[in-house]
Amino acid sequence: MSNKYERICNNLDETKSLAEKFAKLIEPAGCFVSLYGEIGAGKTAFVKLVAEALGVKEKVTSPSFVILNEYHTAKLPIYHFDLYRLENEGVKTILDELTEYSEGHQATFVEWAEFSQNEIPFNHIKINVTYDEDEARKYSFEAFGHDNISIIEELKK
Ligand SMILES: Nc1ncnc2c1ncn2[C@@H]1O[C@H](COP(=O)(O)OP(=O)(O)O)[C@@H](O)[C@H]1O
Ligand SMILES: [Mg+2]
Repeated sequence: MSNKYERICNNLDETKSLAEKFAKLIEPAGCFVSLYGEIGAGKTAFVKLVAEALGVKEKVTSPSFVILNEYHTAKLPIYHFDLYRLENEGVKTILDELTEYSEGHQATFVEWAEFSQNEIPFNHIKINVTYDEDEARKYSFEAFGHDNISIIEELKK
């Protein structure tokens, strides 16, 4: 048993299938998800597809200018952060707040989680997105915490 899973998605449709599967698995209990990867890798694209699979009615957009978008029209509340524009100092102030977003039945996504020099100190799933070629992207998952490891095990099936 491993807490890691890697998947190449050759186009956006394959990313959509992966996102739909992931959405089903996180829906029952909620999840805190951190996303890493270069600009344009496919972090926002994945979050948008997961949010849509969870039933969000409104348009899902990148929170890179507003830092946080929230959606309350899906099966569970969805919080989507992008910390790219926060300076290091600003990020420190948000860490306590993020801890609260890791508790309870909600899906929280944090792009540019590089903010935390240390590991994130609570259960979560980390996703690293890298370019492969053209429309191919590699999504690498790593789970922290027992329940999240079960999610990764299910994702492999
Ligand atoms: N297989 C794929 N998976 C995800 N995105 C893809 C894929 N193929 C092409 N794309 C495109 O790559 C871009 C990813 O951008 P975005 O998700 O905003 O990146 P990030 O949030 O990581 O900066 C989008 O324009 C998306 O349509
Ligand atoms: Mg983005």
